[in-house]
Amino acid sequence: MTATDALYQHAAGVMPGGTSRLHYYYPPHPIYAASGRGCRLTDVDGVERIDCLNNMTSLIHGHADPDINAAIIDQLQRGTAWSEPGEAEWRLAQLMVDRVASVERIRFANSGTEAVMMAIKLAREFTGRSVLAKFEGHYHGYYDYVQVSVATPPDRWGPDDAPATVPVSGGLAESVVGEVLVLPWNRPEAVEALLAKHGHRIAALILDPLSNRCGMAPPAAGFMEFLTEITRRHGIVLIYDEVISFRMGHGGAQARYGGTPDLTTFGKIMGGGLPVGAVGGRAEIMSLLDPTGGKPRLESGGTFSGNPLTMVAGLAAMQKYTEAEVARLHAMGDDLRRRVDQVFAQAGEVAQLAGDGSLFRVLLTRDVVTDYRSSVRNAQPMARMGELHKRLLHEGVIISRIGLGCLSTPMVTGDIDQIVAAFERAVAR
Ligand SMILES: Cc1ncc(COP(=O)(O)O)c(C=O)c1O
Repeated sequence: MTATDALYQHAAGVMPGGTSRLHYYYPPHPIYAASGRGCRLTDVDGVERIDCLNNMTSLIHGHADPDINAAIIDQLQRGTAWSEPGEAEWRLAQLMVDRVASVERIRFANSGTEAVMMAIKLAREFTGRSVLAKFEGHYHGYYDYVQVSVATPPDRWGPDDAPATVPVSGGLAESVVGEVLVLPWNRPEAVEALLAKHGHRIAALILDPLSNRCGMAPPAAGFMEFLTEITRRHGIVLIYDEVISFRMGHGGAQARYGGTPDLTTFGKIMGGGLPVGAVGGRAEIMSLLDPTGGKPRLESGGTFSGNPLTMVAGLAAMQKYTEAEVARLHAMGDDLRRRVDQVFAQAGEVAQLAGDGSLFRVLLTRDVVTDYRSSVRNAQPMARMGELHKRLLHEGVIISRIGLGCLSTPMVTGDIDQIVAAFERAVAR
């Protein structure tokens, strides 16, 4: 029995499926991490792999980055959490306001899910409306109102121009479905028609500019500007969920794909490897959280929100994520996608490496993917993805079980060569 087998047996005895996170389970069991350095992770059996998952894309500088570690260690000596605010919280807030054009004020939380929840509540209070609009296939964490129409099976899709609202999970109140309108991505006419009918009831429209579950179909030219205009016309708060996609530009995904959100949610890389979330946006909306004039119109808390350990780690990580590094990772991402697509074509594998910048996603279709449905239609069965995932692990590369991957700043061209070679061996077997 390997060390991994033994750990899994212990874990499965005390945790459902042996895990705290659905996304980290795959059969027969996940690998167990022992240590990481740079872009490499070593498991408990001593096997080293290139980590293209990086805690679900949250480690932009890979593992054990020396600058982030130094900031964390310095803070550790002075305490991990205080009831009082500290200087690093203000500094990270200032960095984000300086960096992201639409962010005038920001409030920190502990996860992307919390950030999304806060943004939606802000929009409800600001507009006096309650309905949320979201796009089919877009994942936004596990707040109830976004846990719909994330991975709807084709037999429950409903019409192409009016997707059905389908819970992705149990545990949701029946009323949730009636409070969410689902829109088709990259289809302005359909969005126009649905908002003409329902716009007056909608508080917020939330979107992920480069949605993983939507096959990383980028917004079509002009789509983000269209959404900015139409949400303004209907008095709807536009929320960009940049929890994953903030890495797409020095000024975030909005700097790359255009449009102007009222609010933006952040998480993952902004915490430098520690748990984090944040909502930023227009001062007028963010002022609903302001306690200086008495009880704020919106209460938000979180014992560990803005904790100094996360703030110093996030600050160190963001300071190192320079425009030059963004551009270098983008170029390596383009190179990887081009070369892996060649590998798939030569092997006769019905697949493509989709994505943009430093994010990528294996899709088991050669169709041009423009939305959730085209990423699923004509795709190979998901069992094939499970097989590829397993083979890549065997060949020394970690991606997610649904084919999500990312690059990190410790990577250099030689690492890309190794990733391509691993894909080559994985599809040849
Ligand atoms: C776009 C998006 N929004 C929100 C979330 C939820 O973030 P967290 O897992 O930190 O709660 C995720 C997580 O993957 C995400 O990808």
